[in-house]
Amino acid sequence: MKRLLYIRRASQVVTVAGSGNKPKTGSEMSDIRVIEHGGVVLENDRIVFVGAHGDAEAWVRSFEDRETDAQVQRIEAEGKIVLPGLVDPHTHLVFAGSREHELEMRLNGATYIEILQQGGGILYSTTQTRAASEQQLIEQSRRRLDRFIQYGVTTIEAKSGYGLTVEDELKQLRAARKLNDSHPVDIVSTFMGAHAVPSEYKANPDDYVRYVIEDMLPKVADEQLAEFCDVFCEQGVFTVEQSERILEAGKRWGLIPKIHADEIVSFGGAELAAKLGAISADHLLKASDEGIRMMAQAGVVAVLLPGTALYLMESPARAREMIENGVAVALSTDRNPGSSPTESLPLIMNLACFTMKMTPAEVITASTINAAYAIGRAEEIGSIETGKKADLVLFDAPNYQFLQYNFGVNLVDMVIKNGDIVVQ
Ligand code: NIG
Ligand code: FE
Repeated sequence: MKRLLYIRRASQVVTVAGSGNKPKTGSEMSDIRVIEHGGVVLENDRIVFVGAHGDAEAWVRSFEDRETDAQVQRIEAEGKIVLPGLVDPHTHLVFAGSREHELEMRLNGATYIEILQQGGGILYSTTQTRAASEQQLIEQSRRRLDRFIQYGVTTIEAKSGYGLTVEDELKQLRAARKLNDSHPVDIVSTFMGAHAVPSEYKANPDDYVRYVIEDMLPKVADEQLAEFCDVFCEQGVFTVEQSERILEAGKRWGLIPKIHADEIVSFGGAELAAKLGAISADHLLKASDEGIRMMAQAGVVAVLLPGTALYLMESPARAREMIENGVAVALSTDRNPGSSPTESLPLIMNLACFTMKMTPAEVITASTINAAYAIGRAEEIGSIETGKKADLVLFDAPNYQFLQYNFGVNLVDMVIKNGDIVVQ
């Protein structure tokens, strides 16, 4: 029997104007499609109609005439807006424990990199993650996923990088796979064995790079545990040359490069992303003018993380210059235990507006279709178009600008994932 979910008479249905085949850049980022008094019809896990109220009514009526035994569930959405399910293209979802003690260390003047170099930071989380079983990782991470979906996020990327041994990296990636299979939020996996140099390799970081390339990558590829490969390319972590070696090796195993670039110092990460043809370069707080120009030319998506900048008390990335220079911008929480412990992508959207001067329309493009491009999913998700996955979020807001105006609160009213109501 056919089953329809019909969202009626929404104040606005907000999506992007035609997903096209490349991420939105420049003025395209403002070119959203707003249907006043709109309707969306879902059949099983697909969007089958989107349009104005009158057309939606006619579509559903004619469907009911044809399919007399079909079940149509109507959702009254007056006073609400409908968006595509939000996409978070950069998280470190799977880890054990937490690091609230570091917040006070940083308030007392310690820097993020100093804490890492003293064996804290990522290495602290690594100790806890190594000690946890796969099942414990699943349980802790599931709670984070439950929060993500409460904030309207229906797909996330998730990186490994708190294991830093073959077994512990595989454990994290297997946990992510099992969560993907058992939780409504879809998870796209990234291998990030090069997240930090573990203490046992402190004196020989190049040996660790070799270990990542020769011992980790083949196993990750063999079990098909990841689609992307990421490196923390940063002064005092992995050099540009080491990052290039790892990402090139990843490519040979079929993993698409991503890169944590120019987060703390200007380091050539954006330039490397362009040179490698990475799908995204992320952070970019200190990206150079040349790096921005090269990213635009190479079509690398800039995944910006204004929550991390705020949490590390750093100046935000230069989103306006990126957009004006033709770089496609996406937004993400960077959910992790050290530099951005939040699942609230709507808060990140607020910060993009207030700290980087992105407009409400650009913010929507950046957290839907451009975010989907950053994880290779734009064919399936990131806009409300017929044929795409039935992933939607309803907000208790009269128009899309209201999401940035009434900031810092959770306006999510309902979340629909694969055609099922999962939050209400
Ligand atoms: O994206 N910069 C490196 N990695 C993460 C932080 C990880 C952590 O502190 O645990 C980030 O900010
Ligand atoms: Fe990160």
